Amino acid sequence: MNDPRPVGVFDSGIGGLTVVKALRDLLPNESICYLGDTARVPYGPKSSETVQRYAVELAGMLMRKNAKALVVACNTVSSVALPLLANKFSVPVIGVIEPGARAALQATRNRHIGVIGTRATIRSGAYEKALRATDNNVRVSSRACPLLVPLIEEGLLDDAVTDQMIMRYLQPLLADGIDTLVLGCTHYPLLAGAIARVVNRQITLVDSAQNCAHAVEEMLDRQSLRAAPPNNAQLYVALTDAADNFLNVARDALELSFGEVELQPLP
Ligand code: DGL
Repeated sequence: MNDPRPVGVFDSGIGGLTVVKALRDLLPNESICYLGDTARVPYGPKSSETVQRYAVELAGMLMRKNAKALVVACNTVSSVALPLLANKFSVPVIGVIEPGARAALQATRNRHIGVIGTRATIRSGAYEKALRATDNNVRVSSRACPLLVPLIEEGLLDDAVTDQMIMRYLQPLLADGIDTLVLGCTHYPLLAGAIARVVNRQITLVDSAQNCAHAVEEMLDRQSLRAAPPNNAQLYVALTDAADNFLNVARDALELSFGEVELQPLP
C-alpha cells in the first residue's frame, strides 16, 4: 500500500502541535497538513454549537488540501463535534478522547481516574462517557483548568506561578484518590514535567497526544492508507491568523521543525 496524501490535523490553535510531534515520531513517512485556528482561539470557553461550526469549516479547508484522514488534535472539538465530522466527511476522522480514555483504563489500578481540560471539554462529559462505555464501575473526578492554557501560551512551563495553579486545580482530585490523570487538552503535554513534579506521588499521566498518534497508526493500517517509504514526508503548518509567541514556545519545547508558516484566512 502507498497513499502519499497528507494526514490533515487541526486544532483551535497551536496546542495541537503536541499531536503532530507524536505523529512525526510514530509515523515518519506520513506527510502532515496542520491547521490551527489562531484567529478564533480559544475554543474552551465557547458553546458546543460554535465549536461545531468552526470544526466543520477547518475540516473542509483540510479536505481541500486532499487530506486522506482528519485528526482532531483538540479535546474541546473532539468532545462536541466528532460524530458531526464523521457524518459530513468521507475520510476517517480520529479524535483525542477515545484513545485517551482507553489508555487511562489500561493504566488505572484503583479504577479511579482524574480528567482535566477546558471548560467546554469538562462540561461535555465526553471523557466520562467514553470511560464508562467500557467500564461502568470506573470512578471519574474531573476539573476544568481554564488558567493552564494561558500560562502555557506564555511559555511559563517551568515556573512557580504555574506550579501553584497546578496544585490548586489538582488538590481536590488527589484528595479524591485518583491514581491516573488524563491530560485532556492538547496544550497540557507541555506541562507533563511540571505536573509530575508538583504532584509528587505516584500518579500515571495519560497524554492524549501520544495515544491519539497510536490510534491514527492503527486506523491507517486498517484502512490501507499508509504512505510507503521512501516518501518525502513533509510537515506543512498553516494558521488562520498571524502566529504569536506561542508558536515559538511550542516549536522549541517540542523540537519540531517546519518551514514557513502559511497564513490561511478563513473563508
Ligand atoms: N487545544 C484545546 C484543547 O485541546 C485547548 C485550547 C482552547 O481552548 O482552544 O482542548
